[in-house]
Amino acid sequence: MADQTSLSVEEAIETRHSIRRFTEDPIPKKEMSKILELVRLSPSAWNLQPWRLHVVIESTLKNKLEEAAYGQKQVGSAPAVFVVISDMEDVLANLPDTIHPSIPEARREEEVSNLASFFNGMSIEERGQWGLTQTNIAFGFLMMAVQGLGYSSVPMLGFDQQKVKELLDLPEHAKFAGILPVGKAANEGYPHHRFELEKIVTFH
Ligand SMILES: Cc1cc2nc3c(=O)[nH]c(=O)nc-3n(C[C@H](O)[C@H](O)[C@H](O)COP(=O)(O)O)c2cc1C
Repeated sequence: MADQTSLSVEEAIETRHSIRRFTEDPIPKKEMSKILELVRLSPSAWNLQPWRLHVVIESTLKNKLEEAAYGQKQVGSAPAVFVVISDMEDVLANLPDTIHPSIPEARREEEVSNLASFFNGMSIEERGQWGLTQTNIAFGFLMMAVQGLGYSSVPMLGFDQQKVKELLDLPEHAKFAGILPVGKAANEGYPHHRFELEKIVTFH
């Protein structure tokens, strides 16, 4: 993909700022596919992969999402808005799909039943929260993939979750990692403002 921007991990992290104004350039199909392929590689406990991504590019729907996000203009003006949810109930309904192909046939059923009994001991809400901790990792991967390929974004949780569920026909049990408007930056965003390492790191 020589024609594609590709930043190092270090560059992607250092140059990422929340961007709330985008140009009108759309995201070409090939780059959209690359972003999604990278997110797909996110890790999760037991490899359960509870994230589900809804990519909104249609204008009318984007405008409705903007309304659900209390009128935050970056939603309607971004060429694509990624809505990232966790769906643990879908995971549990399809547990055999999560078992690694290298696990021998004789052990697969046992693996599935161990996983099922672990999660059946939790409420839908509890396992929803468990799935969300995994999905937040994928949300981070998504931000980095976007940045690394030359696009910008802003992570968002400021929206009416019930309204977004209705707009996208999402299941009631879905948990939101966030929504991510994505596009080419029309400004630079704010400089980083972060705590010093002394405050956030302890060596033992
Ligand atoms: C989980 C999460 C939710 C956020 N929600 C919003 C939001 O609803 N609207 C918004 O404009 N920014 C939102 N932000 C962006 C933060 O304000 C921003 O990441 C923070 O101020 C640091 O700035 P930077 O991203 O430019 O480094 C959110 C960020 C995160 C991680």
